[in-house]
Amino acid sequence: MKGLFITLEGIEGCGKSTQLGLLREHLAARGFDVVTTREPGGTPAAEAVRAILLDPAHKALSSTAEALLYAAARAQHVDELIRPALEAGKIVLSDRFADSTTAYQGAGRAISMETIQTLHNIATRGTWPDLTIILDLPAVEGLRRAARGGAPDRIEQEPLAFHERVRGEFLRIAHAEPDRVRVVDGSRPVDAVKQEIRDLVDQRVGAP
Ligand code: TMP
Repeated sequence: MKGLFITLEGIEGCGKSTQLGLLREHLAARGFDVVTTREPGGTPAAEAVRAILLDPAHKALSSTAEALLYAAARAQHVDELIRPALEAGKIVLSDRFADSTTAYQGAGRAISMETIQTLHNIATRGTWPDLTIILDLPAVEGLRRAARGGAPDRIEQEPLAFHERVRGEFLRIAHAEPDRVRVVDGSRPVDAVKQEIRDLVDQRVGAP
């Protein structure tokens, strides 16, 4: 694979969507061919699955169905957008990817890590990030920030303890895979976070 696959992860309100836009500007200014995308979503079919997943009306959605829908959206996203872009030598920046399933469905919903791994194998078929940046901050602060964005979606409505399990799992993943995953303190001002992310990514793509 010729391209580079970078993902931004973290709990609700961690600032990753803002930072993804800033990182795209930086890499585009450096002359790289960049594709930005998100999960769940990134393609028309996967965006349709996203609408189901986040709709607060689907209170009855089971943990198993939820996990399969996230995996289905990912399978489509990988096949239709991510893998072709990487094969064309582009840098793909994704707002969330499979680590979110490990954190939200594994730790959050208590689905076994064996099942989560099976879902990852099916959905990604080996397409995995080269670099993952986790924006970390306390769950209570993230939820406070997310609440400013309007009515909470189905996942944001989960209790604080759920979001604390998710945060803990992201930190565990970072600890387990230090070569791929880096943690950035997302509680600082946007510019400080932006600079640290740029430095991490420049190290990976080569300093200007
Ligand atoms: P977003 O709000 O960051 O766009 O993400 C959508 C929501 O979906 C967010 O609450 C996290 C959740 N999510 C999962 O539970 N599992 C997943 O695999 C992904 C990609 C997102």
